[in-house]
Amino acid sequence: MASKQLFDLTGQTAIVTGGGTGLGRVIALNLADAGANVVVCSRRKEVCDEVVKEIEGLGRQALALSLDVTNPESIAQGVEKAVSHFGEIHILVNSCGTVFEAPATEMPLQQWQSMMDTNVTGTFLMCQAVGKNMINNKYGKIINISSSIGFKGTDPEAVDSVGYTTSKGAVMTLTKDLAVKWGRHGVYVNSIAPGVFTTGMNDPEIPGTLVHKAGPLIASQVPVRRLGSDNDLAGAALYFASAASDYCTGQILVIDGGLGAK
Ligand SMILES: NC(=O)c1ccc[n+]([C@@H]2O[C@H](COP(=O)([O-])OP(=O)(O)OC[C@H]3O[C@@H](n4cnc5c(N)ncnc54)[C@H](OP(=O)(O)O)[C@@H]3O)[C@@H](O)[C@H]2O)c1
Repeated sequence: MASKQLFDLTGQTAIVTGGGTGLGRVIALNLADAGANVVVCSRRKEVCDEVVKEIEGLGRQALALSLDVTNPESIAQGVEKAVSHFGEIHILVNSCGTVFEAPATEMPLQQWQSMMDTNVTGTFLMCQAVGKNMINNKYGKIINISSSIGFKGTDPEAVDSVGYTTSKGAVMTLTKDLAVKWGRHGVYVNSIAPGVFTTGMNDPEIPGTLVHKAGPLIASQVPVRRLGSDNDLAGAALYFASAASDYCTGQILVIDGGLGAK
């Protein structure tokens, strides 16, 4: 197959959770650029509406939905709307996520649970709801956004969130287990584990975000000497979403500028 065809998503439909902002927005736009129609969802429909306008500007169809991944009813309604609007769903990107920093000894149970509910249970429930549609259609590509800090311990000076690191480790295991269970149905499940990217969640310029203090330090330790930006993730998502990855499932692709290699 020619390389253009390998990455061509024309006629396919993708759902991107957290698609209104940050990494989810970049992935949604990139999938649309490769030909896909995109359902952009998160709790705030207004931010998704803006991305829908951008996607329509690329000549694709798009639908903005208010969807809360911590609410199974909201997921059921959202997926039903997406299916009735576009029919078959070919691609699911779970990019929604939340983080709360506190020393492990002080981490409030409510915040721990919020990270588990959004990052782990929300990702699972989206895979379950959309996976049924994909299994029926004998085809699907699921991409779960985990994190490079889900592999191991992290210095509290860099990221002080035991709930976040634990939740992202769980997303990686969920990815592998679903890949093994659903490979026979034509449903591929892979994960992208980003290092430190500049987004709303993680902007070194904005006080209160994860790496406000540690950002410059991290940038000086990253082998390529910078934080991640938009284009650094887009190609990986397109690879996992397209026919280019048709013999690849259950994998975690780390995109961290080489930090994990140290
Ligand atoms: N930026 C990084 O350096 C980095 C590194 C590793 C991994 N990640 C992961 O990458 C993903 C995207 O993060 P980001 O950096 O792009 O930050 P972001 O811009 O803050 O994106 C988080 C998204 O999640 C959505 N969201 C949160 N709770 C939700 C819920 N209950 N239901 C539905 N949507 C929900 C938010 O939209 P609403 O508020 O409208 O719901 C938002 O669009 C996350 O999973 C994050 O953990 C990021």
